[in-house]
Amino acid sequence: MTAAPFAGEVADAAAAHAVGPEYVAAVGKVVASHVRNELAGAAAFDEPAIALAPAPKEKWLACRIAMEEYGHHLKFQRLATDLGLEDATAGRPMTVFDYRLTSWVEFVVLKALVDLAEVVLMEELLATSYVPLRDLVVKLLPEEHFHVAFGIAHTRDLLDRPAQRPQVQQAVDDLVRLTVPFFGRSASANNDAFRHWGVKHRTNDEARAEWARRGRAFVEGDLGLSFPDVDPHWNG
Ligand SMILES: [Fe+2]
Ligand SMILES: [Fe+2]
Repeated sequence: MTAAPFAGEVADAAAAHAVGPEYVAAVGKVVASHVRNELAGAAAFDEPAIALAPAPKEKWLACRIAMEEYGHHLKFQRLATDLGLEDATAGRPMTVFDYRLTSWVEFVVLKALVDLAEVVLMEELLATSYVPLRDLVVKLLPEEHFHVAFGIAHTRDLLDRPAQRPQVQQAVDDLVRLTVPFFGRSASANNDAFRHWGVKHRTNDEARAEWARRGRAFVEGDLGLSFPDVDPHWNG
């Protein structure tokens, strides 16, 4: 890796290969993480939520969200194929996908908080050096914003019934704890390479802190529940 950070724009896959294998590897890791996580999330949360939804309107919304998340997987996969990545689905998805969804309450809280993490990661890619990735997140972000807005609105509605508060608080506590690792370790050679090549601009801790700031504003400011303490420093 050269000392000075890369400051160029990379128009397409051929240009990425012309920059060199380190650049392709850095972009490839970011793209592959989205390929895996969009698929894992759709299968673990969004598709099961269709069965958990309490009424036809909610089932329709859950179907739409599941369709969009599988769509995100396919669109990131296309980017991976263009780059010539061997198998972008190889490797382990994040631990948050080990969470077993058992209720509609959990699903709506998950959309408000876990999809917020996805929004924070995608927003950063609006400034990525790899133009095809930038163009893709411009298209996908409105859908991710919709998922978060859906989660926020439906979580608010649940709290109209005070008896639901403990269940919502429990989902917040569980999901915040599981989402902290989503941003990666504080000490990360991958993140160093992403920032060197202009693929990303934030450290993992900066992204984690931004997510926690927004999540806390929603949970404490909006819902009047408590948001667990999040140390932005995380090393597993
Ligand atoms: Fe998504
Ligand atoms: Fe989403």
